[in-house]
Order: sequence, then structure tokens, then C-alpha cells
Amino acid sequence: MGGNLNPGAGAAPLPPLDRAPPEVGAVTDYEPLARERMTAGAWAYISGGATDEVTLRRNRAAFDELRLQNRILADVRAGDTRLELFGRRYDFPVLLAPVAYLKLAHPDGELAAARGAAAAGAGLVLSTHASTTLEDVAAQAKSDRLWFQLYAKPDRGFTRELVARAEAAGYSALVVTLDAPVNGHRNREPRVGYRLPPGIEAANLRGMAPLPAYRGGSGSPLCGGILESALTWDDFEWLRSLTRLPLLLKGVIAPEDAARAVDLGADGLIVSNHGGRTLDTLPASIEALPPIAAQVQGRVPLLLDSGVRRGTDILKAVALGAAAVLIGRPYVFGLAAAGAPGVAHVIQILRAELEVAMGLTGCRNLAGITRRVFWNPADYGKP
Ligand code: FNR
Ligand code: LAC
Repeated sequence: MGGNLNPGAGAAPLPPLDRAPPEVGAVTDYEPLARERMTAGAWAYISGGATDEVTLRRNRAAFDELRLQNRILADVRAGDTRLELFGRRYDFPVLLAPVAYLKLAHPDGELAAARGAAAAGAGLVLSTHASTTLEDVAAQAKSDRLWFQLYAKPDRGFTRELVARAEAAGYSALVVTLDAPVNGHRNREPRVGYRLPPGIEAANLRGMAPLPAYRGGSGSPLCGGILESALTWDDFEWLRSLTRLPLLLKGVIAPEDAARAVDLGADGLIVSNHGGRTLDTLPASIEALPPIAAQVQGRVPLLLDSGVRRGTDILKAVALGAAAVLIGRPYVFGLAAAGAPGVAHVIQILRAELEVAMGLTGCRNLAGITRRVFWNPADYGKP
């Protein structure tokens, strides 16, 4: 292995806490607590974004720049944050996004994340690249709000079987991630010499034929490499044929793609730039949402992730057309800091913040959250 460009690395990680610490007020308060409990490599992998991290920062800046307008004397009695998605009730519009290899954050990895989600009443989308099998998560999480995220593999038979396993285990929706047919270049990882540690594996992929070789640097991703087997629009029908579950496409940014996916039969879209981890200088997903909502016209539910850190962010996403949001790093940092209780706490904080934001903007329920919550609603279309 080459040199280590992270001079602060090397101190042994602290053990995880066994409960949510009382001094945590915001979900971002978990970041420093997580960092001191992770190796430098795991920290680089999880917190990093693609190349210059312009999109990673933009995801936050774009939320911050949207100004709200409070309303006085609004009657918000008997309010709630309930919604229905694909025939199921959810108490509030936050799900945990698919994140690979959660054992990097905590020894109990996906099981602790799923327990935390279930305790707090949130849905969880399990990654194809989970470090725990999808069967173990379904058996032990005792949640009826599990979705499965698919990375289609070049071995079509294996991919079909993987989806069949998820259906058999009780997952209730399929999220196909399409914005990462090849990984973005994330420069923090080589700087600290990150590699997946021994003992952590993509547990769902045991027995799969090895992927076509792509060695960043020496190989070419586009010509003769991994992109040779990436899905195209011609494969949509095949994707649709994999499941009778609701099919969501994740990683949609272009309005044209959103319209085409819905025309072809997608049941939902996740507007996402993968937390700034794939193509750098993409817009923030909150910026990409309004033109997509205008194209889709409510034909299918839109979800959004990337940069959600506050209840006001959730309010803004709902006002611009999202049915719900997903969070990635915030719950992973809660997990690293304090296991399942940390995950549950992150969800509770966001839920409470959303309720306060709704109360102060005069929104009794999610349907009542419109562009009127903005100080300058004309900037975002008709109020
Ligand atoms: C991800 N994400 C992701 N997405 C996916 O569809 N499958 C995956 O396996 C992963 N793995 C993954 C690992 C890590 C460490 C991160 C941080 C993210 C993307 C994830 O689902 C989500 O889109 C972003 O994390 C959302 O952005 P925030 O909330 O992290 O800002
Ligand atoms: C990532 C891949 C696994 O973001 O989606 O690391």
C-alpha cells in the first residue's frame, strides 16, 4: 500500500456507545461522535463524495438557501405527518436510504440499523451491497417496512434470483439504483489507503460470478470495462419483469429521464445524486426536484435524498413535490456512534423537527405543505 495522506489517522477507534447521548440535539451532532469510533478508511468511504465534492456541498447549500415564511395564528390542531406509499401507512415521511457495508460503521451493521428504524417506525431500504444477508435482516428486524435496493449484476440469472429472495423474505418494494453503473471517483479513499476490511463482505452476493475486471487507472471503465454490462433503456422491460412489487428508480436527475421512466411503467422515482458520490457538479437533488415534479405531474410518488439533515429540509422537499425523503449518512453516523439507539434517535430528531417546522409554517398535515411555505414562492412556480 502507498503512503497515507491523512496525517491525523491512526488513533484506535473508540467503542460504540450503547445509548443515545443526551448532549446530541441535531443529527449532525453525531458526526464527530461517529468519526472517533470509525477507522480513517471507513470515515473516508462513508463521509466522502466524488472528486471535488462540489455536489456534496451543494446538497446542503441549496437547502439552506431556500427561505421559509412562518404563519401566525394558523390552526394546526389535530395535525399529523402520516402518509401512504404503495398501499402502506407510514407515520412520517422519512426512510433510511440504502447504504453499503454498514458493518463498517458498527459491528452489528444492518441488523442494528434495521432495529433502530423499526423502533422509530421508519422504513429502511436495504442495499444489495449490505454486509448482512437480506434474509437475516428481514428475520431479525421485525419490520413490515423493509424495501430492497437492487444493483443489477451482469449475471442476469443471479440478479433475478436476488430479487426473488427479497420478495420471499417480505421486502415490499424494489428500488433499482441507476446513477452508479460505475463508481464515482472518490479521492478521500485512496488518500487514506481505504480497502474493505477482512470480515466485511457483500453478503447477498455470495456465490455470484466475479465482475468483469475494471482496475481504476490501468483499465478503462467505458471501453471494454464494467459499463459494457450496464443496463440501458432497452432493459426496462426486463427490469419490470423481475418483480410484481412496486418498482422505483433511484438516481433520477434529468426531467426527461423521469418522464420516460414513468411512461414505461416505473411506480416511483427517487430524485437523488447519491449523496454527491457519483458525478460531481450535479445539481443538489432539491434543485432537481421541481422540474421533475413538473414533468411527472403526480402520476407516481417522488422521493428525494441527498443532503437532508433538518426537519426544515423535509418540509422544503415535500413543498416542492416529494412524498417522502430518505437519509443516508445521518443514520450511518448515528449507528456508528450509538448503534440501534443512535439510529432511532436520528429519526426521532428529524421527525420532531419536521413537526415544529409544520407548526410554525401553519401546515396541519403533509398535504397542507405547499409552496406557500416559502418566503418567495414565485421562485418555485405557482403557489
Ligand atoms: C450510499 N448510497 C447507496 N445507494 C444505493 O442505492 N446503494 C448503495 O449501496 C449505496 N451505498 C452507499 C454507501 C455510502 C457510504 C453512502 C454515504 C451512500 C447512496 C444513498 O442511498 C443515498 O442516496 C445518499 O446517502 C443520500 O445522501 P445523504 O443523506 O448521505 O446526504
Ligand atoms: C456507494 C455505492 C456502493 O455509494 O453505492 O459507495
